[in-house]
Parts: sequence; C-alpha cells; structure tokens
Amino acid sequence: MARPATIFSCSACGTQSPKWHGRCPGCGEWNTLVEERAPAPSGARARGAAAGAAGAATAAQAVRLRDVQVERTPRLRTGIGELDRVLGGGLVPGSLVLLGGSPGIGKSTLTNMALGHLAAAGRRTLYVSGEESAAQIRLRAERLGDAALDVPVLAETDLDAVLATMRAERPEACVIDSVQTLHSAALDSAPGTVGQVREVATRVAEVAKRSGTAVVLVGHVTKEGSLAGPRVLEHLVDCVLQFEGERERTYRTLRALKNRFGSTNDVGVFEMAANGLAEVLDASARFVGEATKAPGSVVLAAMEGSRPLLVEVQALVSPSELVPPRRVCNGLDRNRLALVLAVLGRHAGVAVGSADVFVNVVGGVRIDEPGADLAVALAVASAARGVATSPSPLACFGEIGLTGELRSVAHPERRAAEAAQFGLRTVLSPVGAPTLRAAVRGALGERDRPARAA
Ligand code: TYD
Ligand code: MG
Repeated sequence: MARPATIFSCSACGTQSPKWHGRCPGCGEWNTLVEERAPAPSGARARGAAAGAAGAATAAQAVRLRDVQVERTPRLRTGIGELDRVLGGGLVPGSLVLLGGSPGIGKSTLTNMALGHLAAAGRRTLYVSGEESAAQIRLRAERLGDAALDVPVLAETDLDAVLATMRAERPEACVIDSVQTLHSAALDSAPGTVGQVREVATRVAEVAKRSGTAVVLVGHVTKEGSLAGPRVLEHLVDCVLQFEGERERTYRTLRALKNRFGSTNDVGVFEMAANGLAEVLDASARFVGEATKAPGSVVLAAMEGSRPLLVEVQALVSPSELVPPRRVCNGLDRNRLALVLAVLGRHAGVAVGSADVFVNVVGGVRIDEPGADLAVALAVASAARGVATSPSPLACFGEIGLTGELRSVAHPERRAAEAAQFGLRTVLSPVGAPTLRAAVRGALGERDRPARAA
C-alpha cells in the first residue's frame, strides 16, 4: 500500500493519525487535528540513528558570539515613514513580516504603496495576490500614483507556482496577499486552514531566506481580533504587525506585536484618503484641535509605545431603566471601564449605578494602557455632573488603584511635555492629585464645595 503523503497530528497532545478526526483519539480534545506533510521515510531516519549510535556523528562547533560573522545588509526603506519606524528602520532582507488586520482596513493599500515606493527606488518587487485579479489590483494602484503601477503582480493561489516565480524573479521585496488564500497541493485541506497556512509560511520562509527576499505575508483577522489562521504563524515569522482601527473611521494605527529587528513600542498612525493611506504625523495636534470643550470630554496624555499621543476621551452618562444598565466603550477595555466605574462610585462620590455609561476614544484609536484610567474616570465624572472640566480641555493621565489612589505610570515627563506642546499647560496626574477624589474635585473645580453629606 502506498504511504499516505500527509498525516494529521493533534496540536494539543501530538497524537498522529492517518485520517482526520473531529475529536483527537489521544487526548479527547475537539478540533485539534491539523494536516501536515508526512515526515521523512523511516528508512532514512533509521540509518541516521544507527550512525549516531556508532558514534559516527561529529560534534558541531559552537562559536563565541563575538566571532559570529554578521552580514550587515542595509534595510529596505519602504518610503512610508510610519511603516519604516514600526518595522524598526525598514524591511530586513530575508525576513518574514506578518501583517494582520480586519478586512477593508487597508492592508492591500499599504503593501501596494510600499512596493510602489520600492519599485520607484529601483528595487525588484513582486506582489502576489490570491484575492484579487490583476485588473482589480491595477485599479487600486491607479489611485495610489504612478509608482505603484510599476510593481509586477501575480494573481495566483497555487503555492508551488508562487514559489517558482519567486525563485525565478528573485524579488528583493515580495508581498503575499493573503497567506490564507494560497494553497499547497501537498496537503488535502482547504486554503486558510491551520495546516495550509503553516505549510505556506514555512515554504515561503525557506525561499525567502535563500534568496534574501523580504516577504510581507498579509493575514486576515477575525471579528474577535485574533489572527485566526495566522495566529499559528506568530512564532514562525520575524515580525508581526497589527493594523487596527475601524473601517468607518478615519484613523488607523499600525503596531508591532513582535519584532526580532526592532522594538515593539512604536505605533504608526494613518488616515485613509482618496489616494491611499496618508501618514498622520501630527496626530496629537489633530485630536486636541478637535476636542470639544463640553462636559464629558477629557484629553488623555497617552503613551503609544515610546511615542506620546494626546487623544480625546468622551463619556455620556444617561439615566436608564435597564437592569443592569448599559456599559459601552469604544477603544478601551470593558473590564477596565467596570473597574473605573466601581472606584468612582466607592471612593470618589460619583455613582452611576442607575445610568447607562458610554465611553469613547475619539477617532477610532485604541488605547491599551493603565494610564487611561484617570481620563475615563474624569470624563465619566464630568458627564455625570454635567460640568465641563476646568480648564477645558484638560489633559490627564494616571492609573487608578482599587482603594481610590492614583498610581504613577511610565514616562510622566514625556506625557506632560507633549500636552504642553499643544497648549495644554495644566496636566492632572498622580503627582498633583494622590487620590481619585482629589483629582475629580480638581478637574471639576469643586475645591470649595462642602463635603458631600453621606
Ligand atoms: P484595502 O487595502 O483593499 O483593505 P484590505 O486589504 O485590508 O482588505 O482597502 C480598504 C478600503 O480603503 C477600501 O474599502 C477602499 C478604501 N480606499 C480608499 O478610501 N482610498 C484609497 O485610495 C484606496 C486604495 C482604498
Ligand atoms: Mg486586501
């Protein structure tokens, strides 16, 4: 009988089976069997083992790091400043970058533009699309300017054909849009399944390393935000970029979740315009300029990695009959909002137990840091009392502790400096207000109010 070309192995316990099961026969977990190419024939392995036993295998020589030869190939600058910064200075030849994001966010636009700039700089490029026809890609490229039209495209979903083209063309930069649409004939499973995605990435990586091609693999994320298939690729690639934001909003952020050649701190801010993505270099100025001075609005001096960013946080508090009342937030963690509301009620005298609370970070930006707590609390307090902060807009930052204290967060000077640069001289922070109660009073100008009756 012919040996099956593929096997199914359980990603939880490693049990192998010649055919697929919904439930692993080894550990009983559901949906863990993934198709893989079968390992090398046992004859070869047996010979290797025998040679090892006989002592024929020679010991490999370990090398001191100081003596390791490093080829310092310059990075490929994509010409998109924000992208280059997040990558740590540009694409590294021979490396693999995974660019994740939800459909319609602008992944194809960003990669098209990057290749266009590289082509204009005289680099060999290749754009492989398994999603769109060459004509569709051309229509988009026409919007992106003349340089984008010089990029060679390949509309293909067969992995072997793509690899053959890569070997023949030897591009310096190659985009594969998307990794979920390519299909390896060696596996029977459908494109986009874990086995296929892993196989595609592994084989592309082999070719990329050999030819020194910098490859960007585009991957779709699910509604829940996980890189569905591509999640399994994170350990395999050198750099994972996440393109975030909402399709209907103007601003999009690009951040590195993993980067072997740079920091994971930097964030790029983009805006979708009629002729592609535009870098937003003055993000803070825009957000502050657009900030309303109405009750419920506060400016958060946030750190997006190593970069300070001012964003407006807005809250609406409205009486509700619902039990429990609504807690809706955009751009923030829901659990964090629950915590802030609890501390506000317990320690700062702002009870919103019978009201719907909506909190929004303006512009579709997502803030993931503890320093946002104070801004959320002050926006809710200001909305609940119907009093604008004084001065307005007011900048603030700080983490809220469970006992009502304010805790310091990283880079207070850089946050304050960014606020000052955009005309926000008063910055409320844990330095000036040790407790949330003091911060609320300070922000709402309630210093002279008599203590609330209990
Ligand atoms: P796209 O890059 O195709 O998104 P993804 O590859 O992540 O799915 O494009 C996203 C959206 O941006 C698309 O709906 C059309 C819009 N768009 C513009 O507004 N201006 C432009 O210049 C381009 C190219 C696209
Ligand atoms: Mg696309």
